[in-house]
This record gives sequence, structure tokens and C-alpha cells, in this order.
Amino acid sequence: MRIDKFLAHKAFGTRKEVHDLIKQGLVKVNDSIVKKKDMHINPDVDVVTVQDQVVQAQLEYYIKFHKPAGYVTAVEDSTDPTIMELLPEEFQTLKVFPVGRLDKDTEGLLLLTNDGPWAHKIIHGKKNIGKTYYVEYSGALSDEGIQRIQAGIVLGDGTECKPAELSLHNDEGVMNEFGEIIHSCELTIYEGKYHQVKRMIGACGGTVTYLQRIAIDRITLDSIEEVGTFIDLTEEEKEIV
Ligand code: URA
Repeated sequence: MRIDKFLAHKAFGTRKEVHDLIKQGLVKVNDSIVKKKDMHINPDVDVVTVQDQVVQAQLEYYIKFHKPAGYVTAVEDSTDPTIMELLPEEFQTLKVFPVGRLDKDTEGLLLLTNDGPWAHKIIHGKKNIGKTYYVEYSGALSDEGIQRIQAGIVLGDGTECKPAELSLHNDEGVMNEFGEIIHSCELTIYEGKYHQVKRMIGACGGTVTYLQRIAIDRITLDSIEEVGTFIDLTEEEKEIV
């Protein structure tokens, strides 16, 4: 990996700021001053210092990304554009992958990492991680359906869902371009079954018209309000598992 890319990843600034550090002779690899910004290093073997402070080689990434609609949650796909196309190319080299999935037409919070065990804990761990969705839907949710969602609904094909939290927005709804009245709600689920939110709402009389994931446990869209943006998770956010 290039030394300038390595230091930029380790938060030593933008590529340009890293180049300045190199120009000033402040960066050393195995005790020799780095002369070329494109020098290749092996972070597992080479000892890199900046101002004589060792830069830890650990190259694990934990990112939150605001996924737009229209992209599939995959590293590669033969037909559709993938979310990886919206992220820096080096994420592929660093083997960063999405943690769980959002449908192509779903927007919102998506985590990415190259730390397999951490991703596994988020998806399959013992801790029940809540995923909260802002949902817009046409039709009306029946009282009985709402109670079934809260108690743990069984879908038409026999899929059993865990109890979920549903909070309806008590508005009159808004008419869309097709003349349908659209209502909204927030739904927190504790698993990630195929099209789960759409199917749960569907089983109670609604049809999802817009879906956005707004939180995974205490990780929210804060700092990535704009669709397509991403940022490193804080230490506190990483500790949800
Ligand atoms: N549930 C869905 O139906 N779709 C998603 O993208 C996420 C949860």
C-alpha cells in the first residue's frame, strides 16, 4: 500500500496534508526518511513513524454510510450499480464490505467494515440490535395488525418475526401523485429477514412507499444527513456489540 494512502487512512489529514508531512521529512519507514509519496509499504511488517511516533498498523475500518436509493447492497453485481461505486476505490482493496443489507430502493444507514467478527456480532450476535426504520405507506394498518407486529407477527409464509416496536405518526397523511394518502410510522425490528419491514407492514394492510433506516442501536444518521455521505464510526458507536 502507498505510504500516503496509509497515512491518510490513519487520519493524518488529506492526501495533500500527508504529502506536506513527507516533504518536511517527518515520515520514516524502518528509520529511513520517506522521500517519495508513492513509496510502497507493507503495514504488517514495516514500522512507520510520523515525528518519531509509531503509527499502528491496524487497518480495520468501521464506517457509517447514508445509502441512496437505486444501488444494491453488494460488493459486486452483474446488473445493478452497487453501493461500492459510491465509496472510495480503496475500500475494495481494503476488503470493506456492507454489514447486512438494505433493499435497492431503501435509503439510510448502512454500516461497512473489514472486521469480519465485528460484522458477525452485529448480524448474528446474541445481543438484540434494534434497527429503526422511518416508513411511509399507503393504505391503513389495522389495530389487530399493529398488535400482531408488537407481539411478534407471523407472516403469510410462516416466517416468525420477533416482537417489534411500532410508533404511528398521528397525522392525517399526505396525498401523493397517484392520489393515495400516505401515512408514516417508525418501526424498530431486532432481526433482518428478507424484505422484513415491507412484509410486516404489508401483512397489516399497508404498502410501503418509502423506507429509510434511521438507526442501528444508538448509531444514527447524525453527521451523514446528506445521502451518499459517510464517516468513520466513533469508538462509542463501535461498542454497540
Ligand atoms: N426491510 C425491508 O423490507 N427492506 C429493507 O431494505 C430493510 C428492511
